[in-house]
Amino acid sequence: MTLEKIKIEAEKEIKKAKDLKELDEIFRKYLGKKGEITQVFNSLRNLKPQERKKVGKEANLLKELIERLVREKSESLKRELADSKLKKERIDVTRPGKKREFGHLHPLTLVKREVEEIFQSMGFSVVEGPEVETEWYNFDALNIPKDHPARDMWDTFWLQGNQKIPNPKSQIPNKSKKLNFESQKLLLRTHTSPVQIRYMETHNPPLRIIVPGIAFRHEATDPTHEFQFAQVEGLMVGKNICAAHFKGIFEEFLTRFFKTRVEVRLRPSFFPFTEPSFEVDIKRGEMDWLELMGAGMVHPNVFRACGYNIGDWQGFAFGFGLERLAMIKYKIGDIRMFRENDLRFLKQF
Ligand code: DAH
Repeated sequence: MTLEKIKIEAEKEIKKAKDLKELDEIFRKYLGKKGEITQVFNSLRNLKPQERKKVGKEANLLKELIERLVREKSESLKRELADSKLKKERIDVTRPGKKREFGHLHPLTLVKREVEEIFQSMGFSVVEGPEVETEWYNFDALNIPKDHPARDMWDTFWLQGNQKIPNPKSQIPNKSKKLNFESQKLLLRTHTSPVQIRYMETHNPPLRIIVPGIAFRHEATDPTHEFQFAQVEGLMVGKNICAAHFKGIFEEFLTRFFKTRVEVRLRPSFFPFTEPSFEVDIKRGEMDWLELMGAGMVHPNVFRACGYNIGDWQGFAFGFGLERLAMIKYKIGDIRMFRENDLRFLKQF
């Protein structure tokens, strides 16, 4: 191939090169070890001196030309690459943004926080206890003896295995300062009432606590029953605490919670851990009376189980379902909605 032809070819190819890789191949095609121009250089020694000088000079010029064209093309390809990258990555700040979904709190969490805030403002501390309980704390200490029919009020999920706890009757150390341990059956707590015992065991009166927490019952579900639900226990113990304190405090709580005047009515009822016991009904404005929860004056046997001197102290206790309170407030018809995780429900809060 003549140098003239090589020149025309090379110029055309360099001009058409689409990327740096192709350009590199073209460079090697002409100036590589076996490149076309390299071959011209190699064949120079076969030429006559006069010819050799002329062809050598032309080949050199062509070599320089191709090197320059390749360099220029390479620079322009790099510039194009950078430009297109910039264009692709450019942020158009005038375009409308993508709407980001923020998570939010579960309705039960919202209601729980509201309840906590109101009671805290009235001097109650918020206390928690374990969801896996022993038979002693969930039943016996609350004056619900084994084989007593009152246990039927709480269908229980029993767990496998036992736990050793200090024998409740030897809690106050004897002369040898040794506690006897006894083996206790384990269960999922059926109410938050056991935390009353746990708290009074370790704190002296006077005291005011609420205990929000999850409870479990082995029963079928329907619009007003779930096997897992949230409760709030309350306990106030002092020198002369009476049912009127309970009624006043609870009316105040409900009035703040529902943001409208709420009346409370106590009806006689039965719970093993309170005497007397009440069923608490509430009424808002013109609406009908609604049954809300259980309450009562702490039974002396409960104080005894905690090591209190009975006669010194009196107190009231109550326990309500958080779901029930939320259902009344937001007119929710089915307790199961709280744990179905249906976004159409959850997004309304
Ligand atoms: N623990 C009871 C239940 O789950 C509710 C209850 C009633 C709690 C009366 C109390 C109380 O503290 O005094 O059915």
